[in-house]
Amino acid sequence: MCGIIGYTGKRNAREVLINGLSRLEYRGYDSAGVAIVEDGDVQIEKKQGKLSVLAEELKRSPLQGTSGIGHTRWATHGVPNDVNAHPHYDHRKDIAIVHNGIIENYQELKKTLQTKGYKFVSETDSEVIAHLIADLYTNDLCDAVKRAVKKLKGSFAIAVVHKGEQGRIVGARKDSPLIAGAGDGEFFIASDIPAILEYTNKVIYLENGEVIDLKEDGITIYNSRGKKENREPVIIKWDIKQAEKDGYKHFMLKEIFEQPEMLRRMFTKRIKNGQAHFEELTFSKKELGKIKKIAIVACGTAYHAGMIGKYLLEKIAKIPVWVDQASEFRYRDPLVAKDTLVIAISQSGETADTLAGVREAKKRGAKVISICNVVDSSIARESHGVIYTHAGPEIAVASTKAYTAQIANLYLFTYYIASARGIKGLNEKKVFAALKKIPGHAKNFLEQHHSKKNKISGYAAKFHEYYLARNNKSCFLYLARNINYPNALEGALKLKEISYISAEGYPAGEMKHGPIALIDENPWVVCIATEAATHDKMEANIQEIKARGGIVIAIVSEGDGLGEDKSINYAIEVPRVPEILSPMLVAIPLQLLAYYVAGEFGYDIDQPRNLAKSVTVE
Ligand code: G6P
Repeated sequence: MCGIIGYTGKRNAREVLINGLSRLEYRGYDSAGVAIVEDGDVQIEKKQGKLSVLAEELKRSPLQGTSGIGHTRWATHGVPNDVNAHPHYDHRKDIAIVHNGIIENYQELKKTLQTKGYKFVSETDSEVIAHLIADLYTNDLCDAVKRAVKKLKGSFAIAVVHKGEQGRIVGARKDSPLIAGAGDGEFFIASDIPAILEYTNKVIYLENGEVIDLKEDGITIYNSRGKKENREPVIIKWDIKQAEKDGYKHFMLKEIFEQPEMLRRMFTKRIKNGQAHFEELTFSKKELGKIKKIAIVACGTAYHAGMIGKYLLEKIAKIPVWVDQASEFRYRDPLVAKDTLVIAISQSGETADTLAGVREAKKRGAKVISICNVVDSSIARESHGVIYTHAGPEIAVASTKAYTAQIANLYLFTYYIASARGIKGLNEKKVFAALKKIPGHAKNFLEQHHSKKNKISGYAAKFHEYYLARNNKSCFLYLARNINYPNALEGALKLKEISYISAEGYPAGEMKHGPIALIDENPWVVCIATEAATHDKMEANIQEIKARGGIVIAIVSEGDGLGEDKSINYAIEVPRVPEILSPMLVAIPLQLLAYYVAGEFGYDIDQPRNLAKSVTVE
């Protein structure tokens, strides 16, 4: 949700900023801009559209200078256009700011500033920050920012420059992420690590309420009381290669193909002597044993992983679980108390609603464990305990490997809590041996789909033809039962996120209570019909769809009786594994189907319209 960057050093700031923004584009991509300070002037270039539009413009009129700030926007207040794009000037063009978040009291601040004669040009909430800092500025930018942030309500990560203070960048954060990077005689500020990793792996995480002052000679951090903080940088172990496409056409495809190795690494790390280990989890098994119920809180894809977690925890750890979308949980007076464990799941660790859910749960006395991918993210830091998924950076907006990593960790955590609760007959050795085979199965499956023309891409091409032949009239329905039902929701979400085709996921047993009315020859129905206790019921559902003229793509277990020549139009075979372990494998063809359908339509797969990877606004 908007990406910000700042640089001060000896390099050409424009190049560093554009490069950094290209790695933050996943956060928003409706407009972009930079502000560079040089010779007592702040110069801004900003453009509606993707970063490439700005980069082209800057080739024509390159801004020179060695310090500046940049922004890639995901619009909240004001349509995407050149004026609403960041950076924003104050009315005298002395100051420029970039902002990620929402200023909730901007109307009130704006009125006060307007009565003082400040002229606003954009429709954004962010512009008010520039005028406010200008109003409070005497001759020290850091001092003005410190005073300004005290007046702001809402969420923000900001970076600010002043024309008279070349080489200085001041940043601040509250409920939106911000990190700083320390290089050799150069310093950075950014929403996320990939933006600066090419230049330095020494990273400082800023806490809520902090203000950071970057100058050519060093970094100073102030806490919310204005006191200096000493903080050593953390060394980031992954390198920039992991945030690159590595020969794949899209990040999404690369991330789909990374899943087998990611799962293999995780199981090797987490499973020792037939037991699940979470060394980063500072929770004693004794404490976990006392938990009476679990609430899982998450958004989007992470919510679907949480639903799979419910099936696992209830079945294996014998504990009642409910799953809430974080945006509902936080507002509905949830019944969480001291005996409740709240599990917050978030790839980014920054999703505003999930973070608010964590805070709400803590306020009510619950214990909170988060499952996060981004190390040291806000949700990870604010939880009582954290499990890191270690899936590596996920760049494509549509989540894939983070999802299977969340599910895999939920398996392991289920056994961890089940053993803490003294559940008998867990048979971990046998289960973990089967679990450790999943990465190999995933690898074999993906190898069959490595070439451009594979079975799933063929089905996607057929759908595309069909769609065009019907004057763009068709949609998708995803049906499944039991532990794969959340995968039906996830498959539908993946498809609509990147191909803009209407898609709905449903528990197959509910088909007769509504979705069956949709079935004529138009919708394509993806039926997850892998080996399962309810397999016969799924077969019956398929017959009912076929009887009404629907087109079925069935995901079946290898060697299963259901074949393309029988009642199914198209079949995708996945390796045969026990039902309870199947969700990680079943997710993969669903991801590939969405990917290839979007590819047929020629859409921008990694940056689908209106979406952002990290939703840091409510
Ligand atoms: C956005 C992303 C989704 C993601 C969801 C939750 O909507 O586009 O891919 O699942 O946020 O994000 P989180 O980082 O909390 O898992």
